[in-house]
Amino acid sequence: MASSRGTFSNKFGFIAAAAGSAVGLGNIWKFPFEVGNGGGSAFLIVYLLFCFVLCYPILVTEIAIGRKSQKSAPLAFKPLGHPKWSIIGILGVFCAVIILSFYNIVAGWVLGYFVEMLLGNFEIGNHFNEYVNDIAEVGGYTIAFLLATAYIVSQGVTKGIEKFSKILMPLLIVIILLLTIYALTLDSAMEGITFYLVPDFSKLNLNVIYRALGQSFFSLSLGLGALMTYGSYLSKKENIVSAGAIITIVDVGIAFLAGLMIFPFVFSQGIEPEGGAGLIFMTMPGIFQTMGPTLGAIIGSLFFLLLSFAALTSTISLLELPVAYMVDKHKIKRKNAVWYSSAIILLLGIPSMLGNGYSEFFTNFITYVGAEKPVNFMDFVTDIASNTLLPFGGLMVSIFAIYAWKRVNLFEELSQGNAKFPNTFLAKYIGFSLKYIAPPVLGTIFIITVLEIFFGVKII
Ligand code: TRP
Repeated sequence: MASSRGTFSNKFGFIAAAAGSAVGLGNIWKFPFEVGNGGGSAFLIVYLLFCFVLCYPILVTEIAIGRKSQKSAPLAFKPLGHPKWSIIGILGVFCAVIILSFYNIVAGWVLGYFVEMLLGNFEIGNHFNEYVNDIAEVGGYTIAFLLATAYIVSQGVTKGIEKFSKILMPLLIVIILLLTIYALTLDSAMEGITFYLVPDFSKLNLNVIYRALGQSFFSLSLGLGALMTYGSYLSKKENIVSAGAIITIVDVGIAFLAGLMIFPFVFSQGIEPEGGAGLIFMTMPGIFQTMGPTLGAIIGSLFFLLLSFAALTSTISLLELPVAYMVDKHKIKRKNAVWYSSAIILLLGIPSMLGNGYSEFFTNFITYVGAEKPVNFMDFVTDIASNTLLPFGGLMVSIFAIYAWKRVNLFEELSQGNAKFPNTFLAKYIGFSLKYIAPPVLGTIFIITVLEIFFGVKII
């Protein structure tokens, strides 16, 4: 059965694809500016805790559900005997479409910056706000990016996804490492590192916790079934527990490195760490400029090119959700499913594109009850989809695994390709987290933050 749906050729192929999904703009664009907004180290610590304590067990569970059922997310629950839970997967498809609608746009900025760096236009860093409002240009790059994603997804899993991830991921890691070393030699390195790493718990508040939680799910591609779909293409011989650990460590490691790279740069450029969504776009060009015109253009364009590819391996996994759903459930041809989904995603992205100053309405889109400032459309959508619905999806997955599917069945699947699993420390850790940590923590944060952020009801 698996072979007719396409499978990953081996464990490395799966890890490269899943880590490719996880590592993307979330690590290098979103993580640094969330850290900047969240007061630096306070955000980092909460984020790390969430990744390892909560997310890793959920990540393993998502992959196990997918592999056991051999189905993409919304259809994965029926073969396990729980058709009603399909709602989690449908919510996931919906979420994936929303996330893609803005993700593509940021990927379009990255692609545009690749060209600007190639041309040696380092000044662009000072004109980020004008750049994102050049709708014709940004729109063009966004469409180009979406077409690239659509093309790869229409080719199917084994041919498209795996091939790209295997080559480009390692290259990206190398360039970030080199840039991090460069960052650490700058005079401002200490200032950046202090902001990033020296704990300051006075900055900790509910908003920081809410955003760190959303970021941990977003970065690990969790909570909407992306990894269920990938798991459905994974062979029974492979060890999910160790593959999941590698994926988590690689993803967190790259985000951590990105922070180590960017904060010395931010301080050396005299930019505010609270720069928001423009942080890397305002910071990096000036850094490349300091390398001189030729080297700067080479390193700068390489950086944004590799970042585009990292984004591409993530958008592929997001687009795969609605596509796999349409193909599996409604028997629509893969190519058609790709074009329908892409068209919807493009349309849904328009308000996000216009919300960076171009349209007053989408720029000051909504002021949450009790908040001081309005947020723009992209931030609003991020709050709904990634900060709220992804952790909610994770909550549902943990409840499903323990109370509906049951721990014995989960553990049986996790023992495939890992016979000793039930007696290991990790088995206890995963079982404990899914039952005693994930539901209460995720449930509490969900209720408190929804009430406070969207309804202005202060509980703590
Ligand atoms: N994790 C990706 C990033 O960090 C984004 C992403 C890809 C994603 N697939 C996902 C987020 C599924 C949530 C769910 O850039």
